Amino acid sequence: MKRGLFITFEGIDGCGKTTQLRLLGQRLRSIGRDVEETVEPGGTAIGRLIRKILLDGANSQMDARAELLLYFASRAQNVAEVIRPAMDAGRVVLCDRFTDSTLVYQGCGRGLGAELVVQLDQIACDGLRPDITVLIDIDLQTSLARAQQRNATLQSTETRIDDESAAFHGAVRDAYRALAAGEPERFVVLDGAMKIGNVARHLWEALRERV
Ligand code: TMP
Repeated sequence: MKRGLFITFEGIDGCGKTTQLRLLGQRLRSIGRDVEETVEPGGTAIGRLIRKILLDGANSQMDARAELLLYFASRAQNVAEVIRPAMDAGRVVLCDRFTDSTLVYQGCGRGLGAELVVQLDQIACDGLRPDITVLIDIDLQTSLARAQQRNATLQSTETRIDDESAAFHGAVRDAYRALAAGEPERFVVLDGAMKIGNVARHLWEALRERV
């Protein structure tokens, strides 16, 4: 059976990962690659309904374990409906966030622990792991400023996680950096303070041999 390539994009809010995912998608298509772009939470019709519940600022009473399970419910649907079939067809799958997000936000930020996240990952993703993970690292101040600007411009109600404290987002950033340091062969770490074009250039240099 053919096997595609699974590339995930990670980073704290406002790091620019979605922009970089789209630019990489365009570049890969321009050289003839067959690309599937998806997002977590979301990526399917069912996932988009789950995303609405997860990110609605009005749901401030959500229990941390309920939150954890909803992220994995969205992911299970995305793996079954979009990612696994695309991989089996030999396509390049670009996914905006995946289980590393759950490790750092719920495992670390919410204090639920990595073990629980890994167990649920086995159920939801059935052994599917990213081949390459792009981590775009930015400082907290830039992250908060960009997230606030985006929410104001889009009049977004997707504010529940953004509304967490600076300490929460700081712990998440540290957890991302620790994950990347522990798996240097999977992670490509880029400095999100660079201009968009420069981040894209560095990313392409890091990936061109592997895609
Ligand atoms: P986004 O704005 O990058 O689409 O991400 C949505 C928010 O959901 C973001 O604040 C990070 C959060 N999140 C988690 O807390 N756990 C997860 O597993 C995922 C995928 C996202």
